[in-house]
Amino acid sequence: MLTETATTTTEPAFEISNYKIKDEDLPGFKDLKFENINELHLDHPGANDAEYRKRRDYIAGLAKSFRETGVITDVEYNSREQRVWRYVAEELEELQQKYASPFYLKAKKDLGITTDRIPQLTEMNRRLKELTGFRLAPIEGLVETRGFLSWLSYRVMLCTQYIRHHSQPAYTPEPDIVHEAIGHIPMFTNPNFADFSQFIGHGARIASDKQLEELGRLYWFTVEFGMVEHEGAIKAYGAGLLSSFGELEHAFSDQVDRRKFDLEEVINQDYSYSDMQKILYVIPSYAELKEQTRKYIESF
Ligand SMILES: [Fe+2]
Repeated sequence: MLTETATTTTEPAFEISNYKIKDEDLPGFKDLKFENINELHLDHPGANDAEYRKRRDYIAGLAKSFRETGVITDVEYNSREQRVWRYVAEELEELQQKYASPFYLKAKKDLGITTDRIPQLTEMNRRLKELTGFRLAPIEGLVETRGFLSWLSYRVMLCTQYIRHHSQPAYTPEPDIVHEAIGHIPMFTNPNFADFSQFIGHGARIASDKQLEELGRLYWFTVEFGMVEHEGAIKAYGAGLLSSFGELEHAFSDQVDRRKFDLEEVINQDYSYSDMQKILYVIPSYAELKEQTRKYIESF
């Protein structure tokens, strides 16, 4: 998920098709900008639960220390957190069997993401490295749009590690490990999707403010809410669909206008951050999404 504000970065540009990013090519995580995560919004289900807030802040603190050391600390999730995971993961698994892209379903298995326990970023990183060279880096909260997207140009996805509040397991107003691991991470095992994500990141680094807004829309209608054609049927691959029972069922209802993907239309299409989506876009294939995005970014 993204926040609204934007700033410019001054990092040097590099080749758009440099798919092999070495550790020494990565910029310092120390310089990341992020919102103050101590202030939970009042509509967060955990806002008035002191114990939850303390736990969330502790896990967020592990991400902070990652920025100093570069070493990811595995989280020892407690039994309540594991129960939240099992509940949500099982419910989603059932719906996903019907609606999710077959690539995604296979990728989830490949990464060892199960309904039994919360996966660690370190174990998923090991597998991603073998498959597409993508990396996950812990983050304690929302990062501004340009900063967040720019990391994708290094094939790095910033991921939260804490989990939503147990009182409302089907809902979270902020990214959490369910949204990241069930929604986003499996798709990074797809070479075309990984390259496409990198292009978005590359674009974010060189975009004007107007182009950055367009990129935010492209990200929204693909990475978060994308659908893909598969053997004559429509399937979901976007993280916002795959990690939410409500959105996933709604996406396939007759209340949604599912349109053929048109990049020019998508980058100009407004969306609501808080309501169910009314319009979604169906890509013909991940390869096609990658190629169209490459041409678009090269026009910057
Ligand atoms: Fe997201």
